[in-house]
Order: sequence, then structure tokens, then C-alpha cells
Amino acid sequence: MTALDAIRNRRSIGRLKEPAPTGDDLTTILKAAASAPDHGELRPFRFTPLDGPAQDAFGAVLEQAYLARCAESGREPDEKKQAKERTKLGRAPLVVIVSAVDQEDEKIPFVEQRDAAVAASQNALIAATALGYGSMWRTGAPVDDPRVKAALGLRDKDAIVGFLYLGTAPEGITVTPHDPELDDLLLPFNT
Ligand SMILES: Cc1cc2nc3c(=O)[nH]c(=O)nc-3n(C[C@H](O)[C@H](O)[C@H](O)COP(=O)(O)O)c2cc1C
Repeated sequence: MTALDAIRNRRSIGRLKEPAPTGDDLTTILKAAASAPDHGELRPFRFTPLDGPAQDAFGAVLEQAYLARCAESGREPDEKKQAKERTKLGRAPLVVIVSAVDQEDEKIPFVEQRDAAVAASQNALIAATALGYGSMWRTGAPVDDPRVKAALGLRDKDAIVGFLYLGTAPEGITVTPHDPELDDLLLPFNT
């Protein structure tokens, strides 16, 4: 698959099954991620792969964080939402959390370091597509929750930029490759 084919064919697939990328394939995906443009080559991106047992353990973190957010805002927890937080990582056999750790550089602001982690995430998804895997980038309230960050050893000022769900598309799922119209996207500069 060419690079352009991988870019066009990358589509979000909500439920993924085994096999997940492991071994050399996972290494290839993470190396592609770490090859992203990175102002100052500060290497601010971090990758946390979660497979079955780790998904269960991190699901408990997400559940407790949800309950704590409810308590903080005086909301009654919703049983279905609570269960979803506990189990949602299971929508794919592998989830890679991509974070940006502030390298506290004098010249390069954290927003640009975060941008590098976002670029790393996209590289990971394109590489996964090129290797024949399905994927989906998800975020939601947990990415801004200091308790979830702390579970990863991150500080409040660091960022979780995405939960990358990786696996294999179920049989029968066909995705439509991207072929976007550009008409509304061009912002001409008129001299
Ligand atoms: C930063 C970011 C966060 C996202 N978070 C979610 C999410 O929490 N839930 C979700 O269903 N999709 C999420 N998505 C996926 C988008 O909804 C999806 O990419 C978009 O619908 C386009 O579809 P495609 O990925 O098939 O091109 C996210 C995408 C990005 C870039």
C-alpha cells in the first residue's frame, strides 16, 4: 500500500477484533509515531500500549475518574455511563494512549510539543492502516482528567492527546476511502 493509499483508507472503525498489532508490527507503528515532525526534536510524545489485562486495570481508573467527576460536579453517577467507562477500552484488542510530556523548553512552547504528539498519533494510525489494521482515535472527558493523567505518571500540565484503538476490522466491514471535496477548504490569499 502506498503512503497515499494508507492516508485515504484510514477510517474510524468503532469495534475492532483480534488480531491486534503486536511484536514487530507494534514496533513499526510506534516508530512511525515517533518519526513525526517534532519542533526542536524534544521527543515529547509518550506511548502507553494497553492490552487485555491492562485494559481492565485502566478501565477501573476511567471508572473511578468518572465517579470522581460526578462527585465534584454534584451529579448523580449514571450506571450505564459508569459501566461504559469501565469497559470501553475493550472495543479493540489494543489501545495505545498517546501523551505529550512538557519538556519545559525555553523556546518551544508546550502547544507545539502537543502538536508533535498529535502528529505522532496520526502517523501511528496511517502506519496501522498500511499494515492492514483498523483503528480509531478517541478522546472524551478522561483526557483532561488529572486523575487519569496521574495514573499514567503525567502531571496536570502534560496532555493526553488520544486513545488509539487498534485491531482488525470485523468481516463484512467495508470502509469508504477518503476523497474529500476541497472547494470549501481553500482560503485564498487575494493580493
Ligand atoms: C482529536 C480527535 C479526537 C477524537 N475523539 C473521538 C471520540 O472521542 N469519539 C469518537 O467517536 N470519535 C472521535 N474521533 C474520531 C472522529 O470522529 C473521526 O476521525 C471523524 O468522524 C472522521 O472519520 P474518519 O476517522 O473515518 O475519517 C476523534 C478524532 C480526533 C482527531
